[in-house]
Amino acid sequence: MDRSKVRVLLPAEKIQARIRELGAQISNDYPDGRPIYLICILKGAVMFHADLARAIDRSVRMDFIGISSYGKNKTSSGEVRLTKDLDTSIEGADVLIIEDIVDSGITLSYLKHVLEQRRPRSVRIAALLDKPERRLRPVEVAYVGFTIPDEFVVGYGLDYAEEYRNLRDICILDP
Ligand code: PRP
Repeated sequence: MDRSKVRVLLPAEKIQARIRELGAQISNDYPDGRPIYLICILKGAVMFHADLARAIDRSVRMDFIGISSYGKNKTSSGEVRLTKDLDTSIEGADVLIIEDIVDSGITLSYLKHVLEQRRPRSVRIAALLDKPERRLRPVEVAYVGFTIPDEFVVGYGLDYAEEYRNLRDICILDP
């Protein structure tokens, strides 16, 4: 990990403050008494999933799904692969997909389609970061943390070649 190559875009405190707001909004939008199934897309969303879950004042279930669309390259190949399935059934459930970043939209449009076939009660998406300039497939994101410019970002779960995921801030990686 080369810290001289990164500069902070979103400091940790700002991320946490925004997550508290999203948690309050989600708690307000979902009725009491039914758990919200928080589905984490591995691996980039793990930090957001863990922090958002703690900001939601409702019963939640936590599950994980593995999807790979990038391989080791920086740009999307357009190929999507399920690498790990959920452990639990989501039939009749209120599902909230937790994603770190929406880029081309390929990952989320694929996953939403896959999960909807399992007959959940509802499916919404929460994404910490949105890069609308890069969109190739339309995706409806109910909860967006930050809209960001088309820069390559790392940290807070996001990687470059598996490095930088453990940074507390979200940073721009200089080429
Ligand atoms: C990244 C990111 C999203 C996806 C977004 O995942 O975490 O899941 O790409 O891109 P898209 O909108 O163009 O589909 P990646 O495949 O790099 O895996 P990772 O989360 O394990 O790092």
